[in-house]
Amino acid sequence: MQTLHFISILLHILAAVVWIGGMVFLGIVLIPVLRQRRGSPEYAELISRTGTRFRNVGWICLVLLVITGFVNLGRWVDHSRLFSAELWTSPWGHILAAKLVLVAVALALSAVHDFVVGPRATRKLREAPGSEEAGRLRRAAGWMGRANLLVAVLIVAVAIMLARGVTSLVS
Ligand code: HEM
Repeated sequence: MQTLHFISILLHILAAVVWIGGMVFLGIVLIPVLRQRRGSPEYAELISRTGTRFRNVGWICLVLLVITGFVNLGRWVDHSRLFSAELWTSPWGHILAAKLVLVAVALALSAVHDFVVGPRATRKLREAPGSEEAGRLRRAAGWMGRANLLVAVLIVAVAIMLARGVTSLVS
């Protein structure tokens, strides 16, 4: 394996670990602990600060995943043939297409969660913590976070098929 590909795959896997690990940590450790203080001013403040900080980390990981993912492709197919019918009609091309669709869904979900619903929820939690709308936005942000985690796990499953083949799964 070339040094460039080794470094690219290393960064790709580390970015996936940090992104997915961060989502799991937020969902099963940090938010349940903070929730014990729901309704207090520091709850909204901490959710807002940790959310904003993790948003930066998450987007750095996503950008890194897309760039290194593109470099990784070079190990399997020449970049000049990325738009060839031969690639996209092959079984490997179908798995790659599934991965790219899932990545697009993750990017869209992350964007809506991180830049629209999440900030609105924290703003409402600050202004009117006990209100109906604050609760609705908080639940919506929570569901979007869970859906994103599920999509991320599916991306890893498809990534394994891409890198290691699916023969043993179907034979
Ligand atoms: C445009 C986006 C992406 C492209 C084009 C892409 C492409 C690739 C390719 C070609 C490989 C195989 C590397 C090799 O062994 O040569 C790979 C591996 C991998 N990708 Fe991606 N990827 C993308 C995004 C992601 C995302 C968002 C995640 C995380 C959720 C991810 C997780 C992984 C993992 C965990 C592996 C290692 C699989 C294994 O070694 O069995 N990728 N990716």
